[in-house]
Amino acid sequence: MVREMILSPSLLSCDFGRMAEELAALEAAGLKWVHWDVMDGSFVPNITLGPPVIKALRKRSGLFFDVHLMIERPERYLETFVDAGADLVCVHAEASVHLERTVSEIARLGAKTGVALNPHTPLSVVEYLLPQLDMVLVMSVNPGFGGQSFIPFCLNKVERLRAMADACGSAALHIQVDGGVTPENTGELVRRGADVLVSGSAFFGHPPYAERLKTFQAAARG
Ligand code: DX5
Ligand code: ZN
Repeated sequence: MVREMILSPSLLSCDFGRMAEELAALEAAGLKWVHWDVMDGSFVPNITLGPPVIKALRKRSGLFFDVHLMIERPERYLETFVDAGADLVCVHAEASVHLERTVSEIARLGAKTGVALNPHTPLSVVEYLLPQLDMVLVMSVNPGFGGQSFIPFCLNKVERLRAMADACGSAALHIQVDGGVTPENTGELVRRGADVLVSGSAFFGHPPYAERLKTFQAAARG
């Protein structure tokens, strides 16, 4: 199956004082997705932004809002994030005890479903949920901060997840990789089966955005 690589820039590395302009610039540059990193200072040692910011900017953007919740017990806020304008809600497996219920609730609310796994979390945690999931996010850094280095064993994890998804009839599953993604490791990630790549520092630090998107796309084609 030929998959188009989707680049989802992480707003964590954008200019927070000019978020509306940054979103407009992404859209003008041809991006389709944008990645929101929501952190609660508990699940991860950092605090970023929440539903009111997403809601305000939803009115200003037609991008697909890919919302990565790095928060404890995300089931408390699913409706709030969907109402704010999340197109996809991705929760951490480590943060939600009744993960099947959480995923079912995201789908019931009408958003795409995603589950994120910390680097050391085994793939078996999501195995039985794959038919219900639109996306699995393989974290390639320990979440909390932008600008960290890619953890190499995650390449193997992506490959094994793609094989697992194919084996259970979930060929359309999006496999997202987040953390330390650069044009240098993009080709390898795509070959191993990833199709949605998140990039923060390696994207926003290199304008113009249309050119940077082309660099990632060329890297994905190998
Ligand atoms: C990490 C976040 C990521 C990260 C990406 O906790 O989920 O989205 O900030 O940033 P880079 O690409 O700089 O690693
Ligand atoms: Zn993220």
